[in-house]
Amino acid sequence: MDGHHVSVMLRETLEWLRPPAPDSLMVDATLGLAGHSAAFLERYPSLRLWGVDADAEVQAIARARLSPYGDRVRFANEYFDDFFGEFRKGGEKAGVVLFDFGLSMYHFRESRRGFSLQGDEQLDMRLDPGTGRPASALVNGMNERELAKLLEEYGEEPFAWRIAQAIVRERKGAPIESTGRLADIIRGAVPAAARHGRIHPATRSFQAFRIAVNDELGRIRRALDDAIESLAPGGVVGAISFHSLEDRIVKLAFRERAVRPERGRFKDAAVTPIPLGEVKRGLLVLTKKPLEPGEDEVSANPASRSAKFRVAKAAD
Ligand SMILES: C[S@@+](CC[C@H](N)C(=O)[O-])C[C@H]1O[C@@H](n2cnc3c(N)ncnc32)[C@H](O)[C@@H]1O
Repeated sequence: MDGHHVSVMLRETLEWLRPPAPDSLMVDATLGLAGHSAAFLERYPSLRLWGVDADAEVQAIARARLSPYGDRVRFANEYFDDFFGEFRKGGEKAGVVLFDFGLSMYHFRESRRGFSLQGDEQLDMRLDPGTGRPASALVNGMNERELAKLLEEYGEEPFAWRIAQAIVRERKGAPIESTGRLADIIRGAVPAAARHGRIHPATRSFQAFRIAVNDELGRIRRALDDAIESLAPGGVVGAISFHSLEDRIVKLAFRERAVRPERGRFKDAAVTPIPLGEVKRGLLVLTKKPLEPGEDEVSANPASRSAKFRVAKAAD
């Protein structure tokens, strides 16, 4: 263990994502600090791996960690939707695809890019600081309605309007450039009773800005589509989500391709007909309900408590 990030549901991923052939290719779409990848490479000695991560700093650490596996491993420093958009067009197929969404502990503890509520950092929140706009651009540039909508949609924040109002009022004095100032503004905006809960009152808002800055949900949707189309016969795809917005996208992506109709599927299909000419890859959904970490994992690693793991297998 590297002391930075404890891989979530490691035992379950190894058990449920068995490569269909000994020399299968695995795509770890969220390499992070390579905890899952290292465990798969150990468990399956002929497995080959693509390790994808948008964050170059994190990937440099993973590269060092995976150096003992030599040319069994290739690296792509890009967003996973961009990776799968290209991969899908190539000749290789993936026997195993793993997504473990969100951030690694490195981001919170060491990146100094404004993901954490501890300390005071630049409001950036980009996984790849070379792409897109920093969080400060949204915080200072969106109008009150846009801010409230963003906080409601991506943060499921009950006090979205109060927080949006406070941001707009406070930034008139000087732009909001640091996490400490944003967290203080949010703390001041929520009702007193919400200031002393189990989680920091700015947690949901920080999540919302991070999702928007990195287009996290759009990227998941696009990447899942292309990843499923890139599966080898008998290939498996698994996704670990940490909040309901992510999990819902995974659930729907699997469900719309499920070849064994679940109850209610025909009803869904009737309202969202598949366009003529577009034949989607059939899947066997192996987890009717998402798997969750056991009590022992949650007590050893509280960050795992909201994890939900879904798995599907190519039907042909
Ligand atoms: C939860 S961590 C993965 C931890 C890893 N499974 C392990 O065991 O060490 C998620 C990683 O995915 C990366 N990531 C998140 N969204 C991404 C995206 N859209 N494209 C590429 N990488 C992404 C983050 O930079 C982070 O390093």
